[in-house]
Amino acid sequence: MADVQPTQQPKKRPKKPPPATERADLATLYCLQATARCALDGCAVCAHRICQHGAPGRPLPPPQRPESCPRVVDESPGPDLGQLYGGCRVLTVGDGDLSFSVALAERGECASLTASTLEPDLETLQREYDGLDVRGHARRIDDVRYGVDARRLSFDESFDRIVFNFPCLPVSDGKDGNSEGSGKADASAIEENKALVRAFVRSAVPLLAPGGEIHVAHKTKEPFSWWGFPCLVSHALLTYRGALVFDRAAYQPYANRKARDRKSFSAIDAVVYVYARDGAGAPPTLPPLASSNGAPSPFYEGALPPARDVVTSRRVCRVVRLDAELMARVREASLAAASASSRKKRRKKR
Ligand SMILES: C[S@@+](CC[C@H](N)C(=O)[O-])C[C@H]1O[C@@H](n2cnc3c(N)ncnc32)[C@H](O)[C@@H]1O
Repeated sequence: MADVQPTQQPKKRPKKPPPATERADLATLYCLQATARCALDGCAVCAHRICQHGAPGRPLPPPQRPESCPRVVDESPGPDLGQLYGGCRVLTVGDGDLSFSVALAERGECASLTASTLEPDLETLQREYDGLDVRGHARRIDDVRYGVDARRLSFDESFDRIVFNFPCLPVSDGKDGNSEGSGKADASAIEENKALVRAFVRSAVPLLAPGGEIHVAHKTKEPFSWWGFPCLVSHALLTYRGALVFDRAAYQPYANRKARDRKSFSAIDAVVYVYARDGAGAPPTLPPLASSNGAPSPFYEGALPPARDVVTSRRVCRVVRLDAELMARVREASLAAASASSRKKRRKKR
């Protein structure tokens, strides 16, 4: 009798437990009202922006591509940029394909905008981002400076906002020493990137007007969390104000790009760290650090206005401080939207 081989069962991968993380930095974490509203309306992208993960035992529906956020689908970025940068003299540094500066130029209502990039000229920048319309972007901005090293900023004027989105050393072909998801990263590249941020801040502070702010967008997942924000930036003249959940839908047509590589990267976990210089100037992006007596800040909207009213106030930037209750509402809205959509799909199939 022939031997009967036991049929090989495919090995079942042990299920990954859902990440048991709630965001830890709630006391200083804010989002735009628009992001909160969008998430409460069931947008899975914005739910991930706000909550990052589910709660233990209550994971969020799977993340979606940022293009599926309804505000991107409808090409309706809303008034947030005007509220964040309205009336400000803004300097952007290390812009990639210049699309961030285009968003500010066209909808930021800035008093002035100076865009800058490390690349020595437009031709080189266009070559770095081959296939993207960098020339077209440059035409939409009045003042673009080339060959500007963020570590050695030198301008005659001062600024209310100096913005460096996703600072990262240009290495080659998008390889920047950060290998997201692998749990590994090149330690020396991280140190060099941290040095870049510190040198940028040292050279930017003297250019800040009273009350002026430095904004740095950065991812929060490992290995990016290993850079040590927000403490990475410390300067006698700066106060850390908090972090604003990065919501790409508000910055259209901005697409964040890798260094010297036309590829974009997921920024769903990103926040904008905000550091302010003392003094009275342009309205602050975020309120002073949560007061120790626990009183809500004047910016804190608590319960969101129920209607989709258009917020036009420029003096008070409409940001919402994240708290456990808001995050729980977002989670439930996202789960309800996901099950409504799968019910709809099932009905369609029948
Ligand atoms: C990850 S990319 C982000 C690009 C762009 N800010 C965005 O959000 O799409 C990092 C950027 O930092 C810029 N960068 C790196 N070192 C710099 C420096 N010393 N001065 C100015 N920009 C620098 C790179 O040229 C690249 O454009």
